[in-house]
Amino acid sequence: MSEIADNKIIGTTPEAISRRDFIKGVIAGGVAVSSASYLFRASTLLGQSADGAERLITLNVNGQQRRADVMKQETLAWTLRHKLGLTGTKLGCDRAECGSCTVLIDDVPHYACSVLTHTVRDRKVLTIEGLASADGKLHPVQQGVVDEQGFQCAFCMPGFIMASVGFLKTNPSPTRTQLAHGISGNLCRCQDYDKILTALMRGAENMRRASHA
Ligand code: FES
Ligand code: FES
Repeated sequence: MSEIADNKIIGTTPEAISRRDFIKGVIAGGVAVSSASYLFRASTLLGQSADGAERLITLNVNGQQRRADVMKQETLAWTLRHKLGLTGTKLGCDRAECGSCTVLIDDVPHYACSVLTHTVRDRKVLTIEGLASADGKLHPVQQGVVDEQGFQCAFCMPGFIMASVGFLKTNPSPTRTQLAHGISGNLCRCQDYDKILTALMRGAENMRRASHA
């Protein structure tokens, strides 16, 4: 469309803005608005949210003090995986149903997908990465899984192990039924429950042996 035709749509005087100029203006304005909101967002990424809440916090994870920039509504699973690089904590359902994201908070198993990170600021978080000892020796429950080759794809494995470690702190000598009940908040998509239970029972046995050694 020519400049003259443009002017017919928007106006007829030489001073009238052309349609092309109008569209250019709208696009530029849109870019300006987008940039403004981006800049605003960027400014909130530097330690404070828009409502002034502190976002740069310190967490006790696997015995270390870890600093992270955490949004008010952020879940612990998200922080662990995306801010701290601890991807051993898996996200399955992300809605407190499967247990893949299980971690220990002050020694008690929790679904990390359903805990807000800001609520664990003064607590101790333990993930699968923090189970082995500093010299690389596997935790007895991890060793039990290796011994029995208890999982198929193993996506659910970290959650099961963390749930078991938490449960065994309260009952170090469970029967098979008791352990099954203790980890019943965890699901396995491969449905390899019998082998999983055998491996975790071996882990419990390893733990008892280690504590008597
Ligand atoms: S991912 Fe947390 S319970 Fe499923
Ligand atoms: S072994 Fe595949 S999801 Fe549990």
